[in-house]
Amino acid sequence: MAVLITGGAGFIGSHTAIELINSGKEIIIVDNLCNSNINTIENIKKITNTNSIPFFEYDCCCKKNLTKIFEENEIESVIHFAGLKAVGESVEKPLKYYSNNLKSTLTLCEVMSKFNCNKLVFSSSATVYGSPKTVPIKENFPTSTTNPYGTTKLMIENILKDICLANPDFSVACLRYFNPIGAHRSGLIGEIPNGIPNNLMPYITQVAVGKLKILSVFGNDYPTHDGTGVRDYIHVVDLAKGHLNALKYIENHNGFETFNLGTGVGYSVLDIIKAFEQVNNIKIPYKIVQRRPGDIAECYADPTKSQKLLNWKATLSLEDMCHDSWNFAKLAFN
Ligand code: NAD
Ligand code: WQD
Repeated sequence: MAVLITGGAGFIGSHTAIELINSGKEIIIVDNLCNSNINTIENIKKITNTNSIPFFEYDCCCKKNLTKIFEENEIESVIHFAGLKAVGESVEKPLKYYSNNLKSTLTLCEVMSKFNCNKLVFSSSATVYGSPKTVPIKENFPTSTTNPYGTTKLMIENILKDICLANPDFSVACLRYFNPIGAHRSGLIGEIPNGIPNNLMPYITQVAVGKLKILSVFGNDYPTHDGTGVRDYIHVVDLAKGHLNALKYIENHNGFETFNLGTGVGYSVLDIIKAFEQVNNIKIPYKIVQRRPGDIAECYADPTKSQKLLNWKATLSLEDMCHDSWNFAKLAFN
């Protein structure tokens, strides 16, 4: 029996694939490589010392191809990472996001139902909390969204909730990730965004490597300890491990459940720059510019529910995140 990983060639999916293999699970990866590279599959093999990993270069929106995977393999559960995730692009091209993210999930759920596969872990996002009134954020806080990307996540959460209501045998762990950064210790896999990065850590590493000149810090007049935005950065390996705990949870619990995957600690943009500089002994030139539209002052998790129900806790430090992000970037870009 295998775990199907959609989007398994991507940033979080590839790290999760490694943790699953290391825990003795059989895995199958499906990814259309629209935001990833086939080399990642080779690197997963290298890191895990595995001869072959079943990989299908299919689009999850294609029912025929997904059906083929389920026909030819015994799949016990699915971790659904496949999706488009660039917030800015989703504002410019909403149809692309609604079409890809919704269609792939609906198709996957239809095929899962047909083959009586009832266990799903879904990649949601802290973006579904919109602008929270207070922090830390608990799972029962109100949800709202500010961009089409976030709306696809919230719509999918609602779809999955309805599927669970209609089918009492179905179980979904909906994982709301905070800000994943870092990379595998080997430096072989990590995140390489297309074009100029939107997210903070990929931007910092590209400044460090000399591809970009200077980091723009978006606003220093927020009501935070140093005026810059505060987020809950989580090491991607900690995040990946959370999926194993979620799989274990849905083996024994039916229904729909949401979980925050964050550390519970908030760091500001300036904290991140300082930590990156200290850990890696590299200067990151930066300038303060206007706030980025749509940004909020503070966003960090209350991870108590995940600690209690999933028996999961992030253990890697900000230093680990800065070290591993740089270790990957310097190999990837040099
Ligand atoms: P990623 O882009 O690195 O990985 C997503 C993978 O899905 C890519 O390899 C891409 O090629 C594939 N994909 C996209 N659409 C597909 C389709 N229709 N069929 C098959 N493959 C498809 O992104 P990531 O950072 O690894 O994120 C994984 C998931 O987690 C996404 O759903 C994302 O929205 C969610 N998420 C990410 C973050 C983050 O900051 N990275 C935060 C919260 C939630
Ligand atoms: C972090 C902080 C910026 C870049 C995004 C998505 C969210 C989720 C995670 C998918 C903020 C500041 C950033 C820069 C800066 N993804 N910043 N200069 O916005 O918290 O979350 O990624 O689900 O949906 O919105 O992450 O890394 O873009 O920003 O000053 O060049 O860094 O203002 O305070 P964000 P981020």
